[in-house]
Amino acid sequence: MESRHIKTFLAARASLLLAFAGLLHLPVAQADAVAAERGGQLFQQYCTECHGRDGRAQLDVISDATDLTMPVDYYNGSSDQEIYNSIANGAGVAMPAWRTVVGSDEAVWDLVHFVKSLWVEQP
Ligand code: HEC
Repeated sequence: MESRHIKTFLAARASLLLAFAGLLHLPVAQADAVAAERGGQLFQQYCTECHGRDGRAQLDVISDATDLTMPVDYYNGSSDQEIYNSIANGAGVAMPAWRTVVGSDEAVWDLVHFVKSLWVEQP
């Protein structure tokens, strides 16, 4: 193969790879962002009373709610599944269970995405 052909071939391979990477990653990132936005609306509706609008739980009334911006301080773990469980089934003595309130697993996952979008430092 002439080097000109090899270059064309490589360029074609590269753009194919880029297109493939785009297919794999961009929609996932966008889907996460959309989910987080839906979760944010639920959060404003159900969660700010204890966790605050910014998730920091710096409220006078109920001070034992977790600061959601600090995953290292979570009492019940900060993996996706652990956060899901805390929200869906409740946690500790004062965190209510939300699965039935928000109506679907998807809505709980939207909240998980939103909660993670509050993190100050990604672990
Ligand atoms: C009535 C007050 C209250 C409301 C409303 C509330 N939470 Fe909580 N939440 C708490 C408390 C208190 C904790 C700490 C639980 C514990 O001690 O394990 C907590 C813990 C959590 C945790 C687990 C963090 C950890 O420490 O492991 C998550 C995630 C969470 N809340 C998300 C939410 C979301 C999302 C909503 C709204 C759907 C919500 N909370 C509504 C009081 C509340």
